[in-house]
Amino acid sequence: MTIRQRTQVGIVGAGPAGLLLSHLLARRGIDSVVVETRSRAYCEARQRAGLLEAGTVQMLRDSGLGKRLDAEGLEHGGIYLQFAGDRHHLDFRDLAGRTVTIYAQTEIVKDLITARTAADAKLEFEVTDVRVSDPGAQEPVVMSYRTKDGERREVTCDVIAGCDGFHGITRGLVPGLATYERAYPYAWLAITADVPPSTDELIYSRHPDGFALHTMRSLRTSRLYLQVPVETDSKDWPDDRIWTELSKRLALPGWTLETGPVVDKSVTPMRSFVAAPMRHGRLFLAGDAAHIVPPTGAKGLNLALADVRLLTEALDALLTDRDSRLADEYSDTALRRVWRATHFSWWMTSMLHVDSGAGPFDERLQLSQLDYVISSRAAATTLAENYTGYRF
Ligand code: APR
Ligand code: PHB
Repeated sequence: MTIRQRTQVGIVGAGPAGLLLSHLLARRGIDSVVVETRSRAYCEARQRAGLLEAGTVQMLRDSGLGKRLDAEGLEHGGIYLQFAGDRHHLDFRDLAGRTVTIYAQTEIVKDLITARTAADAKLEFEVTDVRVSDPGAQEPVVMSYRTKDGERREVTCDVIAGCDGFHGITRGLVPGLATYERAYPYAWLAITADVPPSTDELIYSRHPDGFALHTMRSLRTSRLYLQVPVETDSKDWPDDRIWTELSKRLALPGWTLETGPVVDKSVTPMRSFVAAPMRHGRLFLAGDAAHIVPPTGAKGLNLALADVRLLTEALDALLTDRDSRLADEYSDTALRRVWRATHFSWWMTSMLHVDSGAGPFDERLQLSQLDYVISSRAAATTLAENYTGYRF
């Protein structure tokens, strides 16, 4: 037996994009159904990025999600750039008049699931066989799926939001989609460690043996990354080897990297990917479903949430006022920010990593670029305004 339902917005995927969209729509009186293939526990435990632009923080606060973020988030006024044996501070307050905040994606996901559950949202985890009818057809679009208990559901929707990440199904529903891609010849080995950070702000270090980043999750928990070859298996990296390599790549006379128990270890590939357009008929793509950036500069989560903010305005105008202007502009408007972040992430990545296929000429260019960033106010401002979130 198939159970039939009706909603305004069918949302595929309960990552940060899908969850925030259903939350923001509900605040405007717009009904949605969210379907997610993974379990709630899995979504809440998935380790991802952890740095929010100033505008992202403000949006979360404005939408009633600021309580834990304000209590537990760590505001940072800059970063350190390390290369050629020296560490230099970039002061974002001075350069761009803005700050960034450390607050893990997993915490945002937990806050959103708590808020949506408290509001009795239609949020279904562990569904299977999610299908979406042709969003280019005249009639309302149908999102169908099987619940955890094996029951078939069909939801008739005014529109669908494809928030199902890079491996989702919705991007494939856009005919004639153009894709733009760059794979990088290295990966990141990530660890979370039960040890207070050895730094007050993030350290981005370019070392001849490869890039390293010291970030954090709280004043008790550190998060660190090492550039490693693409085919790396984290099993080949016992904790001692990781700490030795991190200590070497982050080394500075008079400074010590404190070590501690490693509680999480993973390898992340690095890629840039953009799909366009982000809309086809009644389907709107948001977040990783439409674009991926390499993690250097932490733009992925911020971009996903910026898409959702824009999409909320567009869907509110479309569904409440029958005004399709913002919906028609959604893809172009979103892609403008996406391409800015794609360029910035590519630039940060290429400036800081060691490409074993490149020669001494490329290395000199990287070092010259880093030297320019720390010595020219104009160059430092370029980094600062992109890092803290460029405002169009
Ligand atoms: N049906 C339902 N849900 C699906 C399907 C499907 N067919 N396919 C994938 N999903 C779910 C995934 O299990 C995941 O929970 O969609 C969700 C997509 O979430 P994310 O991958 O976190 O993507 P998004 O919400 O866009 O958030 C982007 O994640 O990768 C990071 O750096 C990125 O921080 C950024 C953020
Ligand atoms: C993180 O905290 O995980 C993080 C921060 C900054 C980056 C990448 C990752 O550039």
